[in-house]
Amino acid sequence: MVQTSDSSRGLIVGNASIDAYIKDEKHSIIGETVTISQGTREITIKLDYSSGFTDKMSAIDEFFRLLQGFEFSEKFGGGAYNSVTSFRKISQGLVSLLDPQTPALDSTVPGSNLKQYLQRQGIDARFLSTVAMPVNIILGDRGGKLIIKGPKREYSLSSFDNREVDSFLREYKFTHFLINSLKGHQLAEKIVRQNNVMAVITKSLDPNFVLQVLAPRCDALQFNYDEFGYIINDGNKVIGDENERFESAIDGILRLKTDYNTKGNIYVTLGSNGILASSKGQIHHIRLVEETGERVTKYVAKDSTCVTGAGDCAAAYLFKGLINGLEPKRIGLEGCIGAIHHLGYHSISADDFISGSCKKGLAPKTYKTFAS
Ligand SMILES: Nc1ncnc2c1ncn2[C@@H]1O[C@H](COP(=O)(O)OP(=O)(O)OP(=O)(O)O)[C@@H](O)[C@H]1O
Ligand SMILES: [Mg+2]
Repeated sequence: MVQTSDSSRGLIVGNASIDAYIKDEKHSIIGETVTISQGTREITIKLDYSSGFTDKMSAIDEFFRLLQGFEFSEKFGGGAYNSVTSFRKISQGLVSLLDPQTPALDSTVPGSNLKQYLQRQGIDARFLSTVAMPVNIILGDRGGKLIIKGPKREYSLSSFDNREVDSFLREYKFTHFLINSLKGHQLAEKIVRQNNVMAVITKSLDPNFVLQVLAPRCDALQFNYDEFGYIINDGNKVIGDENERFESAIDGILRLKTDYNTKGNIYVTLGSNGILASSKGQIHHIRLVEETGERVTKYVAKDSTCVTGAGDCAAAYLFKGLINGLEPKRIGLEGCIGAIHHLGYHSISADDFISGSCKKGLAPKTYKTFAS
């Protein structure tokens, strides 16, 4: 495993969340609503289908009140939280989190909150307290999960918040920045003016802002193939099945480079199909050999203890690769291995992976092992 140099100072910028896991739930999706039941209690939540259907959907209305009659457990989650905790485990350098929201209480320790919880893991966090931390509902197991997020809440940074951020950046002299699932443009605009910025792009940001402001300036961009279409497709709709999303991700990478002046490396995570990793001239597809892939997918679908966070953990590895100046193909491989470990499958190494080069926007015809 590659070591992060001790002199790196990484800042992860984005929103944490509280993830609610409903005990012994059953759920079904009918039309555009999801019905969740626990024993005799049942609720329905209307989902926002305007950008297509993926395993992460927003609700039309706030739903927290509806959850009250259910028995559920809570865990901290969200892109930035998942990435910062994953990155802490693999890096020797200084690691901090900047979250514009108010830190939620840590329900496992009386009187403690998320800031202190992170502090105990060696992560120094700053919260701006602009807006309350959201609660997401996590349904199903890894093989068929559905994450329901609340509707987007708007917030803006006060002049006090702006000064707080500026003095935080000045004081810590961060060398590398990772934006993940950040809501709100003001903070993103501030961070993207720094050097060595990577951004994980989700539906939390407006597609035009991503394409016009973030894409040209970031040194690395990460998308997930389920949500890439929301950013890059005309009409902001995610379409197609797994295969079509894979093909259109290759096309999307080419469009980012030609139409939007994207100079940084581009990564697209493809679930069980691995990762696309692109540098200036080439797009590599890195994936598990078929037999191992089937074994891993079978394992993670039912036995994984982590339903979420594979992409955010991959982001931590890609960020580490950026810090260490590795080649995108190698970085993609590290991301795949790290994410699969995160999902609880540990007997995996570089020898289990193959890579191929996508020519003229098409899927690779041949693949090679990493040893060759
Ligand atoms: N079933 C699987 N088999 C092999 N690798 C997997 C599997 N699921 C996830 N991965 C690895 O994890 C990476 C990230 O997963 P995915 O593409 O689903 O991201 P995500 O949707 O952002 O994450 P999550 O689904 O956890 O929210 C993939 O690029 C892949 O390397
Ligand atoms: Mg996924």
